Amino acid sequence: MTEAAPVVTLDGPSGSGKGTISRAVAQQAGWHLLDSGALYRLVAYAGADHRLDAADVEGHARLAISMQVTFGVGPDGSEQVLLEGRDVTQAIRTETAGQGASRVAAWPAVRAALLERQRAFARPPGLVADGRDMGTVVFPQARLKVYLTASAEERALRRYKQLKEKGAGVSLAALSREITERDARDSTRAVAPLIPAPGAEVIDSTGLPIEAVVGRVLELGARRSLWPPRT
Ligand code: DC
Repeated sequence: MTEAAPVVTLDGPSGSGKGTISRAVAQQAGWHLLDSGALYRLVAYAGADHRLDAADVEGHARLAISMQVTFGVGPDGSEQVLLEGRDVTQAIRTETAGQGASRVAAWPAVRAALLERQRAFARPPGLVADGRDMGTVVFPQARLKVYLTASAEERALRRYKQLKEKGAGVSLAALSREITERDARDSTRAVAPLIPAPGAEVIDSTGLPIEAVVGRVLELGARRSLWPPRT
């Protein structure tokens, strides 16, 4: 595979902080960002929208190829996700949407349908890719692979705070159960399960502030000459 641009991958379970860390690293490096989880969330969302049968694998795979998605920035500077021109930023972030994503993500046909769409994000000057199989399947040639994790309790608490901030009515106990269930499904599926890529740098972010984790990833990238060292 020829390299269109250098890639840094960040894989890990829900609530490990991948999204926040990936965004910060991409911003500081001036690189593009791929939130691959959003694509799986969009497939599940679009499927429900089209009233597809929940078990219709081919229908969901077709949507994975045909759906029109725009990742942009809203008027207030925050991230914005448009599906067929409709703002679905909040709608795809609920835990229910996460569960739907995890379900369609277990189907090989959907994963295959999203492969090229994901690889197309690798454009100069570089890409930070956030997901579950970025380093193992989608970008095996990545210059730096990070596997980010944290204790199950801390991950549930982070997701709880995140969803609360967005005004969602959630219970910590229910969220913990759902996250455990989703992790189990993502880690045990037959295709592209969540596992650290060979050669991945494993970072356990339990108890670490965001800046410390971002600093560690930036340092690992600088060591590989992906960007200048921080002063
Ligand atoms: O990162 P996230 O919570 O937005 O991801 C939602 C679901 O999508 C996750 O539970 C599993 C699936 N997913 C995947 O299978 N592969 C990816 N690269 C990213 C997400």
